Amino acid sequence: MDPEACRPEEKSRRRRGVILGVVAGLLLIVVAVVLGLTLRPDTATNTDPLKTTFIRRCEEFKRYDCEKLWGAFEQAYVGRDPCEVPREAYDPFIAAADFKPACNSLMFWSKTKDVVHNFTKNRDCYLTVEDTVLGSLLNGLTWCGKKGSNETFTTNCKGWRDCENNTVGSFWNRVSAAFADAACGDVTAMLNGTIATPFSPTSVFASIEVKKFDSSRVKSLNVVLVTEKSAVTNCTNTSLKDLQKELKQGIKYNCMEVTEAQIKECSSNPKISCEDCW
Ligand SMILES: *[C@@H]1O[C@H](CO)[C@@H](O)[C@H](O)[C@H]1NC(C)=O
Ligand SMILES: *[C@@H]1O[C@H](CO)[C@@H](O)[C@H](O)[C@H]1NC(C)=O
Ligand SMILES: *[C@@H]1O[C@H](CO)[C@@H](O)[C@H](O)[C@H]1NC(C)=O
Ligand SMILES: *[C@@H]1O[C@H](CO)[C@@H](O)[C@H](O)[C@H]1NC(C)=O
Ligand SMILES: *[C@@H]1O[C@H](CO)[C@@H](O)[C@H](O)[C@H]1NC(C)=O
Ligand SMILES: *[C@@H]1O[C@H](CO)[C@@H](O)[C@H](O)[C@H]1NC(C)=O
Repeated sequence: MDPEACRPEEKSRRRRGVILGVVAGLLLIVVAVVLGLTLRPDTATNTDPLKTTFIRRCEEFKRYDCEKLWGAFEQAYVGRDPCEVPREAYDPFIAAADFKPACNSLMFWSKTKDVVHNFTKNRDCYLTVEDTVLGSLLNGLTWCGKKGSNETFTTNCKGWRDCENNTVGSFWNRVSAAFADAACGDVTAMLNGTIATPFSPTSVFASIEVKKFDSSRVKSLNVVLVTEKSAVTNCTNTSLKDLQKELKQGIKYNCMEVTEAQIKECSSNPKISCEDCW
C-alpha cells in the first residue's frame, strides 16, 4: 500500500475534527454570552430595581449624567424615616434636573389622568409633568429609605394615609411646584367636567401649581373642561370662578368646554393641528 494514499483522507478527517472543535467552542461562547446577557439584568434588578428603572428612563433624555441625577434624588430619602422627608429634601434633584420647558407647551391636569396622558403621549405639542424629566423617571413607582440603612426600599413605604411628609408624596409636591415654577407663555389645564367641582381646593393643581404661576412669565391660563354627553359642570361653575380669582393680576383666563370624544379624535389623528384640538 502506498502510505501516501491514505493521507488526504487522514488530513481531511483531522481537519473535520478541528472544525468540529472550533464550532463547538464558538457555540459554547455564544451560549455563555447569551446566558450572561439574559441573567445580568435580573441580578441588577434584584439589587436595586428602582435605580435600574430610573437610569434607563433617564438615559432616554440623552442630556444628563444619570448617575449624578440618581445621587441627587437618592440623598433626599436614604437613611431617613419614610415619614420625615419634606419637599425641600428633593431640592438637589430639582436643581440637577435643570428643567427648562418650551413656552406655551405646559399642560396641567386634575382628575383627567388617562385622557390627558393619552393625548400628550400621541401629540408632541403639550407636556404634562409626567412627560418631563421631573416626573417621568419615577412615574408609577414607590420608594423610601429607612433610618440607619443606606438601602432603597420599594415595598411597605408610607403614603398620605400615614403622614404628611411621606417620601413619595413630598416628591410629587416638590416636582409639581418646580413644573409650575417653569411655566411660561400660554399655559393649559385639562380639568374634569363630569364631576361637581372641577377645580378642587385639595388638588395638587389648586393647592400647589396655580399658586406658583408667575405673572411676569405666564401670559394666560386656558382651561380645557373635558365634558361628556352627560356633562355635570360647565365653565360657569363657581369653582372655576374661584380659579380665576386665584390667578395673579396680569394672567389672562379662558375656559373652553371640549368633549372627550373630540380630545380622543385629536389624540389619534395627527392631521388635526394642535391649535384646532379646542
Ligand atoms: C413636614 O415638613 C415641613 C417642612 O417642609 C414642616 O414644616 C412640617 O412641620 C412637617 N410636618 C410634619 C407633620 O412633620
Ligand atoms: C372625570 O371623572 C370621572 C369620575 O371620576 C371619570 O369617570 C372620568 O373618566 C373623568 N374624565 C376624564 C376626561 O378623565
Ligand atoms: C451600603 O453600605 C454598604 C457597606 O457600607 C456597601 O457595601 C453598600 O454598597 C452600600 N449600598 C448602597 C446601595 O449604597
Ligand atoms: C351651565 O350650567 C348651569 C347649571 O350648573 C346651567 O344653568 C347653565 O345653563 C349652563 N350654561 C351653559 C352655557 O351650558
Ligand atoms: C360648582 O362649584 C361649586 C363651588 O365650588 C360646587 O359646590 C358645585 O357643586 C359645582 N357644581 C355644580 C354642578 O354646580
Ligand atoms: C387613546 O388614544 C388612542 C389613539 O392613539 C385612542 O384610540 C383611544 O381611544 C384613546 N384612549 C383614551 C382613554 O382616551
